[in-house]
Amino acid sequence: MSEICANWTAWLKKNRFAGQTPEMVEQTTRWLEAVRDVILVYADIKPYETVLDIGTGTGLLAFKALEQQDCSGKVIFSDKFQDCLDDCKRIIDELGLLHGYEFLLCPCEHIALPDATVDKALMRSVLVHIANKQPAISEIYRVLKPGGKYCAFEPIIRSNTRYWEITHPTFISKYQDFKKVENELMENPLDSLCNFDENTLKTNLEIAGFSVPEVKVQQINSKYVVQPNMVEAWFKNPPSPDQPSTRERFMKYFDEATVDKYIQEVDNYLVGREIQLRSNAVFINATK
Ligand SMILES: C[S@@+](CC[C@H](N)C(=O)[O-])C[C@H]1O[C@@H](n2cnc3c(N)ncnc32)[C@H](O)[C@@H]1O
Repeated sequence: MSEICANWTAWLKKNRFAGQTPEMVEQTTRWLEAVRDVILVYADIKPYETVLDIGTGTGLLAFKALEQQDCSGKVIFSDKFQDCLDDCKRIIDELGLLHGYEFLLCPCEHIALPDATVDKALMRSVLVHIANKQPAISEIYRVLKPGGKYCAFEPIIRSNTRYWEITHPTFISKYQDFKKVENELMENPLDSLCNFDENTLKTNLEIAGFSVPEVKVQQINSKYVVQPNMVEAWFKNPPSPDQPSTRERFMKYFDEATVDKYIQEVDNYLVGREIQLRSNAVFINATK
């Protein structure tokens, strides 16, 4: 686990907002709710159904599904990590809910459920943390009932704006060297974060058995003025509790002083400037 991120619950509550202003935290929160709502529209959950939230984290999808079912069906909060289930359980207890839910500790590559027992499988930003995506997607297919739906969202990080695109060779000493390494890192076939896109996901879904899966690309553009401390947070904050930060990734290619000088130069160049960022994502809507 990373030194500055104890577990997934801490990452979801704190690290994912690192470097953001209070207004940006508010915007991110609203955006997460909007993504959740699109997944749930696709899922079209009925009161009696069994709903599986895979990689539930802090229960973003599961709690809304529970609300939509009014606790009349079964929402399964599932995650590979116990801290996430403990946190969701704590909220359930605080709400005083007595039925309509279950907790399931398992990785999504081996879901601890029999074949064909789930009506709706929900997921947000989980495959992006799994290097080999096919076993996970095939496992989701296995637990779905015939006619059951897999509805999900995943960011396509590979096509995000890169640092070299928003800086300038005149102001960054080793611009070309860092550009080359950044491109290499973003195209690493072993890195769960960027080893996939809409096309590979569609192939994974078809191999699993989903006929005509919908994989809809959404381009998200944002524009803001870079604030002090933001750049440091981008480089030092890990993308998940068990993955190295961008600074640590660069240190596999350059010594620490060179990486820190680069971060400082990026910071000097960007703070106070308005930047425009592009990040792609996909919504998956697949029926068994
Ligand atoms: C970015 S968080 C998303 C959490 C939640 N779905 C949401 O939308 O807020 C990723 C989640 O995936 C879980 N996770 C990571 N690897 C997993 C795996 N192999 N199987 C199941 N869950 C996993 C983590 O514990 C974490 O809760």
